Amino acid sequence: MLEKFARYPLTFGPTHIEKLERLSTHLGGKVEIFAKREDCNSGLAFGGNKLRKLEYIIPDAIASNADTLVSIGGVQSNHTRMVAAVAAKLGMKCRLVQESWVPHEDAVYDRVGNILLSRVMGADVRLVDDGFDIGIRKSWEQAIEEVKTAGGKPYAIPAGASVHKYGGLGYVGFAEEVRAQEKQLGFSFDYIVVCTVTGSTHAGMLVGFAADGRARNVIGIDASFTPAQTKSQVLSIARNTAALVELGREIVEDDVVLLEDYAYPAYGVPSDATKEAIRLCARLEGMITDPVYEGKSMQGMIDLVQKGFFPAGSRVLYAHLGGAPAINGYAYTFRNG
Ligand SMILES: Cc1ncc(COP(=O)(O)O)c(C=O)c1O
Repeated sequence: MLEKFARYPLTFGPTHIEKLERLSTHLGGKVEIFAKREDCNSGLAFGGNKLRKLEYIIPDAIASNADTLVSIGGVQSNHTRMVAAVAAKLGMKCRLVQESWVPHEDAVYDRVGNILLSRVMGADVRLVDDGFDIGIRKSWEQAIEEVKTAGGKPYAIPAGASVHKYGGLGYVGFAEEVRAQEKQLGFSFDYIVVCTVTGSTHAGMLVGFAADGRARNVIGIDASFTPAQTKSQVLSIARNTAALVELGREIVEDDVVLLEDYAYPAYGVPSDATKEAIRLCARLEGMITDPVYEGKSMQGMIDLVQKGFFPAGSRVLYAHLGGAPAINGYAYTFRNG
């Protein structure tokens, strides 16, 4: 589905799929849980889901003769870390706007984890006081103008690399990769669980899996706590992406399955159940999930298994999208493990 699009390789290749044997057993053994390790997809600054998206965006940035990548996220954004890494790798400058998206207080929240890595990689990191919003932001538009005024040539990458014309393509590729891996494994997955916030990961998967009738088997777990906005952003990115790849069928609202029960109490703030899910997965599998994104989708998946949402015998693929560096910003939360 992606042959006609230019791709700049930033990842190692197909990501590993592993069975989470002890977690599956712990949850009753009726459902087999697997993880696709997007968190281990690259040597660029700990990797993660943004690199698949950026692989299809960077050719456009290079073609535009830009010298500065400009992007935006929260203080502990994984996305901005990935943009900083890609800019370093390409020899470009990087300007990052880090907004105060998370009502979380930790003495070193703006010094450790993702933001530390972005600074080490040479990005020009600016903190801004505005709150959470996945839409197009004034502070980002201002940063783009400032780069121009200073004589630079900016290339604009929106939050999560989502509302970009090519933002959904990378995760169409994920679905194609899963299909090829299923052939090798000799079985296919009944459900794919994905954490959803700015929307293009879920949207790309939805389009990719629509090609074999599995769009509604992609179970999005909302971590934004603004699910209506996230859902409509997934739908519009999926429609745009479906047109780009000439899917040949309409994506409709019901194709977007987004479960809203796990994002509380706020974006970036873990509930007790999220913290328990992070500990459980770490203690049974040695697999690290973070309090902002993957901990919430892990919590959601565990709850769905326990509630019997997945019929007995189902094979569930948990897309581990990365994000572990952010856990450093929650040192006090996990001070006792
Ligand atoms: C680790 C991690 N998981 C999940 C997501 C959600 O992906 P998306 O923003 O494409 O919905 C993000 C980024 O926002 C992320 O960094």
